[in-house]
Amino acid sequence: MEVKIAVLASGAGSNFKALVEGETEPGVVDILLTDNPNAGALKLAAELGVEARYLYPGKYRTRFGIEEERLWADFLLDRGVQLICLAGLMRIIKGPLLDAYRGRMLNIHPSLLPAFPGLDAQGQAFSYGVKIAGCTVHYVDDGTDTGQIILQKAVPVLESDQRDSLAARILLQEHEIYSKAVKAHCLGRAVYSKVIR
Ligand code: GAR
Repeated sequence: MEVKIAVLASGAGSNFKALVEGETEPGVVDILLTDNPNAGALKLAAELGVEARYLYPGKYRTRFGIEEERLWADFLLDRGVQLICLAGLMRIIKGPLLDAYRGRMLNIHPSLLPAFPGLDAQGQAFSYGVKIAGCTVHYVDDGTDTGQIILQKAVPVLESDQRDSLAARILLQEHEIYSKAVKAHCLGRAVYSKVIR
């Protein structure tokens, strides 16, 4: 049975593209939603032939307005979306959208969580001087990048690395693990349990 996926992205959309082109069956990307009318992901969606919509997120910068978050949730529920994949959505989700999709919402984060949650995880890791960086796919819960982990991939930091070269190598691994984690979830092999921390 097909699992209908919505990808939510604010930026370039390379993870969105990787999910569209990756091996995610029975998961199938049905739609791209963005909170940014200038997102590169919108152009990619047109090239890939995937339906895409900009929806107004409300007046705040890093979270949704409560009414707007309810509208996003209603839109996705009405469409029959069964799984949400956050792919560089630069906005915290805490209200009606999380309530509607708890255990059915995944996020990709460019660090080996629980290290370096939040913004510019790659820069944080680089400045800290870690020798092993990486990326994580996890379920979304009420915290910031705290949900149950599905898959991780380590990326060694090279002597020659700068923040951006490290981020570029991490991004390639994000593309690999995101579709694998989506597939595992859709096959019931990622198994969400509500962990109280
Ligand atoms: C990715 O590196 C993703 O892990 C990160 O934003 C980038 C989006 O790139 N997400 C976060 O930092 C969320 N906390 P993309 O638009 O090319 O997929």
